[in-house]
Amino acid sequence: MEKKIFSGVQPTGNLHLGNYLGAIKNFVELNNDNNNSCIFCVVDLHAITVNQDPKELKDNIRETVATFIASGIDPKKSIIFNQSQVSAHSEAAWILSCTARMGWLNRMTQFKEKAGKDKEKASIGLYSYPVLMAADILLYDSTHVPVGDDQKQHLELCRDIAQKFNSDFKAMDFFKIPEPLIKKEFSRIMSLKDGTKKMSKSEMSDLSRINLTDNDDQIINKIKKAKSDSLPMPSSLEELSSRPEVKNLIGIYASISDLDFEKSLNEFSGKNISEFKEKLSEILVDKIKPISNDIKKLLNEKSYLDKILLDGRSKANDIATKKIEKIHEIVGF
Ligand code: TYM
Repeated sequence: MEKKIFSGVQPTGNLHLGNYLGAIKNFVELNNDNNNSCIFCVVDLHAITVNQDPKELKDNIRETVATFIASGIDPKKSIIFNQSQVSAHSEAAWILSCTARMGWLNRMTQFKEKAGKDKEKASIGLYSYPVLMAADILLYDSTHVPVGDDQKQHLELCRDIAQKFNSDFKAMDFFKIPEPLIKKEFSRIMSLKDGTKKMSKSEMSDLSRINLTDNDDQIINKIKKAKSDSLPMPSSLEELSSRPEVKNLIGIYASISDLDFEKSLNEFSGKNISEFKEKLSEILVDKIKPISNDIKKLLNEKSYLDKILLDGRSKANDIATKKIEKIHEIVGF
C-alpha cells in the first residue's frame, strides 16, 4: 500500500542538527522510496504563534525550502509548499477546534513549556497550535507522519481529534488515523550545553546547537566546547545514564553516521573524550558542509525557490480543497 507521508517544519530560522536528525533526514529517506507520496509543509501559520518580523519570516520561508532541497528532498518527487497559501488549513483548523476538547489541549506539555510562567500573555494561537497541526495532517489523508519525539503528544491529539470527528458525525474512516514515524534512539537531540534540555532554535546561546548553515570552524568549535566530563568514554549503556551530555554526543555520532547506538559506544569505549570529539567533528563537517554550501547557493536563487512553493501550492490546494468540501458536507454547511 502506498504510504502518504506528511510533515511540517516551522520557518523560524536557525534550522539545526535536531531538526535534521529528528525529522529532515527521515524526510529524505521517505522521499527516496518510490512507494511513498510525500508532502512537506513549511508551516508559516504555526510560526506566527509567537512574534515574527515579517521580512525575516519571508526569508526564513525560503531558507526552509532551501534546507529541504539541500538536504536531499527532490521537489519533483515531493510536494513542498507553505501552509498559509492553502486556505483549507486555517478553515479545517477552525472546524476541528470545535471537535477538540479543552481538557485535551490543557495537557499539551509543549504549550506549558513555551508559554512558561506567563501563560496569560501567550497567544491563543500558541494554545490551539496542535489543532492546526491536526488539520495539516488530516486534510491529506496522511498515513505516516515523520517527526521528532517532541511532537509525539501532538500526534496523539491529532489521532484523538480524527476519531472523535469520525464518530460524532458517523463518518466512519473519513479521517485516516495517522501513524507517527519517530526514530527510537535519536528522536530527541539535546542541547550541547545541557544534556537534559532539547536542542532548540529558541535557546539563547548559539553554542547550544549546530545550525545547518554553520561553517567548518563553527562546528569544530561547538563540539570542542560542548559540555562533557573528563572521564574516559563509557563502556556500557548503564554508565551512560548518569552522563547525559556524553550520551547525546554518541547519539549524534550514531545517527549522523547511520550506525547502531551500541556499536558506536563500543567503538570509543575507554578512549579519551577529546579523541571522540575530534572524530565527531570530522563526521559532522563531512555531512553538514555540503548541506550548508547548498543552502547558501540556493538562497541566491529566489525565483527557483518561489517557483517550487508555487507549484507545491497548486498541488496541495487541489488535494486540500476536495477534502474541505467533503468536510463542509459532513458538518452540514
Ligand atoms: P518544529 O518546526 O519545531 O520542528 C521541526 C521538526 O524537527 C523536530 N525537532 C527535533 N527532533 C529531534 N531533536 C530535537 N532537538 C528537535 N527539535 C525539533 C520536530 O520534532 C519536528 O519534527 N508543530 C511542528 C510542525 C508541524 C507539523 C505539522 C509536523 C506543523 N504541522 C504536521 C508534522 C505534521 C513543529 O513545530 O516542528
